Amino acid sequence: MYRLTVVMLPMYDPRDASRRVLAVKILLIALVTVTVAISLVRIRRRPERVSKELLPGARVDSRVLAVFERACRDCHSDQTHYPWYSYVAPISWLVEHDVAAGREHLNLSRWNEYSILRRQRCLSEIANQVEDGEMPLPLYTVIHPSARLLPADVDLVFKWTQSERVRLTRETVAGSAQRDRDGIPRRAD
Ligand code: HEC
Repeated sequence: MYRLTVVMLPMYDPRDASRRVLAVKILLIALVTVTVAISLVRIRRRPERVSKELLPGARVDSRVLAVFERACRDCHSDQTHYPWYSYVAPISWLVEHDVAAGREHLNLSRWNEYSILRRQRCLSEIANQVEDGEMPLPLYTVIHPSARLLPADVDLVFKWTQSERVRLTRETVAGSAQRDRDGIPRRAD
């Protein structure tokens, strides 16, 4: 498309068209093309693993899961979906940073690898972040309006974090009672 524009432009009446504007346009198009080309060559990302479920090991219903998939998955899982513009500098730098920092704080693809304690902490953090409207990041929702959370979504996620915390606590209590019955000494953790 761009190439077509470049070819067509000189066909306008040259006396009316400002040559300077034309030169600037061509320069800008060339710059954008080069930037895109460089970005495409430089960035190599792990292929998406879209089939894997989020929150393995958690008891979570499909409505809550759908909210996480819609609003959190891109930065907080291994199933990031990278649109074409995420490969273009400088957007690519921002995306790289957000995804790396997001996964470090909370990776929903590795939920089952977290200790019970870490899961419980994450659950309260998730509750805080969505209640305060801090997550998903505002800039992200500008580009992905469908990721915006409605009050009903916040409510859904909040209630789930509470019930999952209770469930995990019960699981730990039940687990240690069972270990007591089996005569396994308690671990001080
Ligand atoms: C555009 C990327 C992006 C999206 C989308 C996103 N996050 Fe985050 N999230 C981040 C980044 C980056 C951080 C690290 C923040 C920091 O460095 O201060 C973070 C941090 C967090 C933390 C840890 C906060 C802390 O202080 O430890 C939680 C919990 C969290 N996000 C939950 C969510 C939830 C829940 C959603 C979806 C409703 C979500 N995030 C959507 C990028 C994102």
